[in-house]
Amino acid sequence: MKSIKDINFAGRKVLVRVDFNVPMDGQKNITDDTRIRESLPTINKLLADGASLILMAHFGRPKGGFEADLSLEPVAKYLSTLINRPVQFTQALLGEGKAEEMAKNLKAGEVMLLENIRFYAGETKGDEVLAKQLAQLGDCYVNDAFGAAHREHSSTATIAKFFPNDKYFGLLMENEIVNLEKLLNNAPRPFTAIIGGSKVSSKIGILENLIDKVDNMVIIGGMRYTFTKALGGKIGNSIHEDDKMPLALELMQKMKDHGVNYFLPTDSVIADAFSNDANTQIVPSDQVPDGWESMDCGPESCKMLRDVIMSSKTILWNGPAGVFELAAFAKGTNEIAKCVAEACKQGTFAAVGGGDSVAAVKQMGLADQMSYVSTGGGAMLEYLEGKVLPGIAAINE
Ligand code: 3PG
Repeated sequence: MKSIKDINFAGRKVLVRVDFNVPMDGQKNITDDTRIRESLPTINKLLADGASLILMAHFGRPKGGFEADLSLEPVAKYLSTLINRPVQFTQALLGEGKAEEMAKNLKAGEVMLLENIRFYAGETKGDEVLAKQLAQLGDCYVNDAFGAAHREHSSTATIAKFFPNDKYFGLLMENEIVNLEKLLNNAPRPFTAIIGGSKVSSKIGILENLIDKVDNMVIIGGMRYTFTKALGGKIGNSIHEDDKMPLALELMQKMKDHGVNYFLPTDSVIADAFSNDANTQIVPSDQVPDGWESMDCGPESCKMLRDVIMSSKTILWNGPAGVFELAAFAKGTNEIAKCVAEACKQGTFAAVGGGDSVAAVKQMGLADQMSYVSTGGGAMLEYLEGKVLPGIAAINE
């Protein structure tokens, strides 16, 4: 792997693509700084070598021009508190001269952050002219933006062309790749995948790609009701996708053919409204009455989850068990987080990915007890679907 680990960057001007796409509140306070903190090993290593850094990042999904709300200025300020040095920043875009001048004058140990790279219309098109403009600012390229590695954009992929012999993975990126490769190719057995979320349509790729890799597949969250209905169960008003029922049956058949044990929760916490104060009852998952919808898995299913988790040597968890953003229906998701943390203490390798499951382990204060928590949402999913991520391919080419 072309890692920065093996290189000394003293005196070099390094262009580093990071993923600083972090949640912010209305007052521009960063409400979860994980992605920024996870970039620090790379930033600090390069600074310790004596490099100067030009950081490139995106924020949100601007339409391709300046949008004050999506400026990276608050992130520049915040980063400077983490690295104890100024982070130079200008809202001026390339072509206006100011950002170029800032980059030109950077000295060893100095850091600048470019304004939101998606303010350039060319970025999301992978435009070469923009990539060249960016490349001219520095003398080598490091990609540490795993969260954006599934995007074939100017700053994540095209730019690498301009540094055929001088492009590297940052330490965050390297860590993600090593852990994901372990899951896909070298997972200690038994390997259990726990896949949840509301829609089966967004998890088809991962379910299919994992069938010949796992021993156990646990299907939870709203998406499991497409499976339950396909099997003839009564699911009341629970979320499901009718058009995906044939696929659900096909997936279950494939799992059987591959000798994969698959688990669907056997009981559900159902509610008569989508709210914390709704009336609730616990029923078998295939007997949800009309007018009621499933919101979480029930106690019997939590026990099943515990048993399968505690008997696994590798766990991949992606997607919540229920509507965990409503406290009344967070039990199943929280139980998974607790059991996975307990399994990790016994030496199980557990990877957690996807916005909601990561939010759940963080809410429970258990993130640092997991073997690995991915910084990528879509990127992790695509990697586990077996896709080649453009941001990774561009360095490897
Ligand atoms: C993310 O938040 O998942 C990444 O930063 C990618 O963002 P995007 O989905 O807007 O490309």
